[in-house]
Amino acid sequence: MIIAIDGPAAAGKGTLSRRLAAHYGFHHLDTGLTYRAVARALIEAGQPLDDERTAEGFAEAVDLAGLDRSVLSAHAIGEAASRIAVMPAVRQALVRAQRRFAETPPGAVLDGRDIGTVVCPQAPVKLYVTASAEVRARRRFDEMTATGQTADFLEVLADIRKRDQRDMERADSPLRPAPDAHLIDTSEMSIEAAFLAAKTFVDAALKP
Ligand code: DC
Repeated sequence: MIIAIDGPAAAGKGTLSRRLAAHYGFHHLDTGLTYRAVARALIEAGQPLDDERTAEGFAEAVDLAGLDRSVLSAHAIGEAASRIAVMPAVRQALVRAQRRFAETPPGAVLDGRDIGTVVCPQAPVKLYVTASAEVRARRRFDEMTATGQTADFLEVLADIRKRDQRDMERADSPLRPAPDAHLIDTSEMSIEAAFLAAKTFVDAALKP
């Protein structure tokens, strides 16, 4: 069983994916972390972010078991990840690893930008989780201030829009809903309501 979850930055995919994985006893992979891990490794090694061959080598070396959101969460790493994610050779290497993960029994939840369209187009359940840019920026802003960081709401909003644009307009695997994805707009939904909506779709797919 594969649950494919796509959507823009800060739409609530992560929280929803973790809850679904815990509920069904499935494995979970946040595929954004795979792009972030490549970006971080390049930065740490002092390598350029615009050389596809170099980035491809780092992508082939990514260890899915060693991904840690806390060391990959920095804003600069997210930005760099979005830049290297436009490179087809990087995507191919990471997609291969993601597909292997998706086959882990008894099931897997993968979240990202291209899971339902490219990585696992055969997934029986596809969700496209979104929210308005303002709501996503507000959540990001609240998260940052809650952890003691200083933040400017309009800057956070501008960043979200820039990231959306780069993720949606790239030529290779742009962010878009698969034709058969169920849309969940969390702009005015609690986490619980989003989980229950998603659960309805998954339960329907699991029914014999
Ligand atoms: O979800 P995130 O912020 O951790 O993702 C970081 C970047 O990685 C995102 O801006 C685009 C890229 N990404 C991608 O291209 N495809 C995916 N399946 C997941 C993330």
